[in-house]
Amino acid sequence: MNETILITGVAGFIGSNLADRLLREDRYRVIGVDNLSYGVKEQIPEGVEFHKLDIRSKEIYPIFKDVDYVFHLAAKNCISDCQADPVETADINVVGTVNVFEAARRANIRKLVYAESSALYEGSQKLPTPESEVKPQSFYAVSKMSSMLFAEAYARHHRLQTTALRYFCVYGLRQDYRRAIPPVFSAFIIKLLKGEQPMIYGSGEKRRDFIHVDDVNEFHLMCICDDRTTGKVFNLGSGVNYSINEIYEVIARLLNSTIKPIFKPDLPGEAIVNLADISEAKNIGWSPKTGLEEGLRSSIDFIREEMRKGRV
Ligand SMILES: NC(=O)c1ccc[n+]([C@@H]2O[C@H](COP(=O)([O-])OP(=O)(O)OC[C@H]3O[C@@H](n4cnc5c(N)ncnc54)[C@H](O)[C@@H]3O)[C@@H](O)[C@H]2O)c1
Repeated sequence: MNETILITGVAGFIGSNLADRLLREDRYRVIGVDNLSYGVKEQIPEGVEFHKLDIRSKEIYPIFKDVDYVFHLAAKNCISDCQADPVETADINVVGTVNVFEAARRANIRKLVYAESSALYEGSQKLPTPESEVKPQSFYAVSKMSSMLFAEAYARHHRLQTTALRYFCVYGLRQDYRRAIPPVFSAFIIKLLKGEQPMIYGSGEKRRDFIHVDDVNEFHLMCICDDRTTGKVFNLGSGVNYSINEIYEVIARLLNSTIKPIFKPDLPGEAIVNLADISEAKNIGWSPKTGLEEGLRSSIDFIREEMRKGRV
């Protein structure tokens, strides 16, 4: 094994996919931390050395010993939940994040890669949106902006090397389908496979830039291997956006379904449109490879299999 990588939020959607991808390289030892508040243990790939811990606890410090790289992904990240509980949002996303930075700094790790979000652009009118347009509005986005400011302070005062990733709407296998309001892709697929009417919050005309988790993982690997990522922030999107109604139509077509959705009142705090300017990531040689239909087909197969196992 060449390097040791620690992932916070390893039981979640992006964290479990990242762990899987790293283990397939056969050269990384992977340590995972998660308090299982949203993620589930069965989702953690075999081979991960798992610690059920809260990122806000000092108990995480010893496990950072001998770690080379940290991917900090644990967060409270449902925008409407964050709007309902700003105190817990700050506790997990700000205090928890600073605790992870502190653990990384004390262990003298080589680099920390952490999740910000496209939500930082909520107040921007510029489309596609470059990394400079930071205008957070929601409590979730403000908590992510605090991570950015603390990362800058840790770099300034402790020379902590970081890369910040602003994911747009990531989708793919293991996307969390268990929450009260699941992400649109899983929500639509599950309901249609069950022959039920899916719900769309608002008019369905909100447009989102979707990016497949496999493409995101290719960038994660670059963060380990390519020094040009250090000290930088990158948008990770596809550079194309679709309305929720368009996504619905594609999924219904792939499933040969004629079921119509039910429209519900809009959820608070969400942006109307997002679209990534991905020039920064492209400039260092990354570009998204997975087409929407290809990505959706594999999500459908995954959810079908989960249903067959009785997990959905
Ligand atoms: N999925 C996306 O489209 C997207 C978009 C923008 C930003 N992000 C960011 O990327 C990161 C990963 O997102 P995801 O979709 O995998 O989310 P997820 O909810 O699937 O995973 C987050 C994990 O963090 C864990 N966690 C939460 N609070 C914790 C705590 N206090 N201590 C330890 N573990 C805790 C949860 O149990 C969960 O397993 C998050 O920081 C999120 O804000 C995701």
